[in-house]
Amino acid sequence: MCGIVGYIGNKRAVKILFNGLKRLEYRGYDSSGIAVINDKLERFRSVGKINELLQKVNKIKILGNIGIAHTRWATHGKPSNENSHPHFDCANNFAVVHNGIIENYQELKNELLTENHKFTSETDTEVVAHLLEKYYKETTNFFEAAKLTFKRLIGSFALCIISKYEPNKIICCREGSPLVLGLGKSENFVASDILALLPYTRNMIFLDEKEIAVISADKIEVFDFNGVKHTKAITEINWDAILAEKKEYKHYMLKEIFEQPDVIFETIDNKLDEENYNIIFNHLNLTNDYFKSINKVYIVACGTAWHAGLIGKYYLEEFCNMYVEAAIASEFRYRNVPISKNDLIIVISQSGETADSLAALRKAKKLGAKSLAVCNVRGSTLTREADGVIYTNAGPEIGVASTKAFTTQVTVMYLLSLYIAKIKNTISDDKYKNYIDELLLIPNKIREILEDYNSLKDLSLTFHNFKNFLYLGRHFNYPIALEGALKLKEISYIHAEGYASGEMKHGPIALITEEMPVVIIAVKSFISEKVISNLQEVKARDGITIVITNEDVDIPDDLIDYKIILPDTIEPLSPLLSVIPLQVLAYQIADFLGCDVDQPRNLAKSVTVE
Ligand code: G6P
Repeated sequence: MCGIVGYIGNKRAVKILFNGLKRLEYRGYDSSGIAVINDKLERFRSVGKINELLQKVNKIKILGNIGIAHTRWATHGKPSNENSHPHFDCANNFAVVHNGIIENYQELKNELLTENHKFTSETDTEVVAHLLEKYYKETTNFFEAAKLTFKRLIGSFALCIISKYEPNKIICCREGSPLVLGLGKSENFVASDILALLPYTRNMIFLDEKEIAVISADKIEVFDFNGVKHTKAITEINWDAILAEKKEYKHYMLKEIFEQPDVIFETIDNKLDEENYNIIFNHLNLTNDYFKSINKVYIVACGTAWHAGLIGKYYLEEFCNMYVEAAIASEFRYRNVPISKNDLIIVISQSGETADSLAALRKAKKLGAKSLAVCNVRGSTLTREADGVIYTNAGPEIGVASTKAFTTQVTVMYLLSLYIAKIKNTISDDKYKNYIDELLLIPNKIREILEDYNSLKDLSLTFHNFKNFLYLGRHFNYPIALEGALKLKEISYIHAEGYASGEMKHGPIALITEEMPVVIIAVKSFISEKVISNLQEVKARDGITIVITNEDVDIPDDLIDYKIILPDTIEPLSPLLSVIPLQVLAYQIADFLGCDVDQPRNLAKSVTVE
């Protein structure tokens, strides 16, 4: 989705803005732009990658110590120079960049057109620049004009504005779309994502809903939309910028796949007192009595995080004997779900900024439910709005296709389920200890799988030209079938469907021919036999089988065309192993096809609009 960076200080703004944009590239975008003030307000915009914008800008040495920049992910109007941000008013006195959607833009545009404002783009954003022009004429004050403008807007927006009239400040505001302010020495920053600011400062202020920030080189002031001043806390971010570098890896996604043993270990280590087998969540804010009284759990999320939620559902049912629904956030937010105060909503989100997930959280809270966030980003909106938080310790995830965020989310859901099971006394001590011991072995088992990275290449090469794939899994591994298919389609653009194996005969079986590779997760399980029957059904129709299994699962050789053997583990933990070769397969196939693995077309890392 769109990205924003702003800078004011004593350095050349262009350089810092470009560095920031580069660090936001991973979010997904189709065009970019930059505006700086030196003597005049200058703007450069370009369709395509940031490097194309950089080439334009490099031809001239642009001075100026204040500027704003943007990567755009088209919503209103196709990617074009005219539609790229920053947007100007008629007289080129204001430059505006925007994330989100202004829902009442057509009404505002009509009003401004009758007042003779001239529009040059199809975007919703441009109305903001013209409103500023209108209100500046009335007030001759940048801050006053900004306040009047923001009050007219309906929708979700993070806005960042500079003006030739008052070239010593950036004004920005947030409603529904995140913004973070970075504090430096004689310089300050603003961005839609802390990653853009990490090379410059660790001290950040998170803007809350309906707040305006006035940023100058030596101070930052925050107000509400009526101009009442707010005191804001400064948060120190611990993420090491180095963690977000690609190092020797060809792509971030590959680096992140290989980081999984470490970040899973980190996620466990952080929450487990190994000596006493105690699970400790520092920001849970929910009592044991509450856990005992829960009526129903809703796990709500989008995309890959929803797949982690589905596995969480199986865990909570299995370990805690609870009634659990794993819902897609965009559906949940509009459903008439009967929620009460004895229900718990768990929202899983890597970014903590996904618009649908936040809307689901707000809805459930409003209806009285308690809430828990499983999230990777400290300070994100989700972590600030939920009653309790469990952090995944994945570190920054840059590749659009989620890998290490997913496996750490599954790890957290596993630990949370064991934690609740202990409280509710639905698990024996021996089983509980054994489940923790087995979890501690997982990072090394993933390392073992990744040691075979090169041998998986032959398999990927064999299959990279196929046009369709089917992924089948059952029970704990049904969500892995969904996740494996999602990974492949996200980054290689090959059509892939994930199914619960038992559903195959209700439709997908019609697709099976010798041109349809079927990836089947057939790990050691109490229902292995059933999965083997599914394999038989595929082979009977000449399907090609790629089987992910364990050494001692007894599958007749003639049912297997290609086999990937996983280390043994207990069944509930098998998803943390079976997903690894599927991530690798998707990555290698996409790389063989020459796809832009880290920034796949049309996708965004953080989906901050509905
Ligand atoms: C986008 C990303 C996915 C991610 C989903 C939910 O679609 O491309 O990788 O799973 O959003 O994001 P979240 O930040 O809420 O986990």
